[in-house]
Amino acid sequence: MTGVLFVCLGNICRSPAGEALFRRLAEETDVAGVDVASCGLGPWHEGQLPDARMRKAAGERGLDLNSRAMAFEQKFFDDYQYILAADRSILHELKARVRGPSDLDHLFLLGDFGEKYVGQDVPDPFHGTEADFEVALDMLDDHCEGFLAHLLDQLSSS
Ligand code: 4NP
Repeated sequence: MTGVLFVCLGNICRSPAGEALFRRLAEETDVAGVDVASCGLGPWHEGQLPDARMRKAAGERGLDLNSRAMAFEQKFFDDYQYILAADRSILHELKARVRGPSDLDHLFLLGDFGEKYVGQDVPDPFHGTEADFEVALDMLDDHCEGFLAHLLDQLSSS
């Protein structure tokens, strides 16, 4: 089983959308043995559904966002091989939470797997407009496609 964890700040906008987009892509591609989840850096929204604006925008793309927010825990370094940060500030904070050097091997900037938006942070849409939610989804979609290609590559060579 390959564990894939999407991480943002609140786990109500970007990471639940990334989780759902990636899960759908993996299903469409028939990739088996992938455990996909998401979390936030802190417990502020614990137990909540994703933000209504993100649920609406994702719903228009045929995605039902129904995960419940949870906070990052250090044990996730054991549970998830790929811990994908939505932006550089999230990655920076996750790096500060490693228990030792080997945990660092699990940390990635999600955007580094992107194609059209390679290397880019997914901007936090929480204080933005509807258009900002669309931008976040466009970027997450691109990043997830690139990550899936990377994963397929890894799985086929292992
Ligand atoms: P997310 O967005 O990190 O993409 O889930 C945010 C959600 C909530 C807050 C900030 C960002 N907040 O400040 O409550």
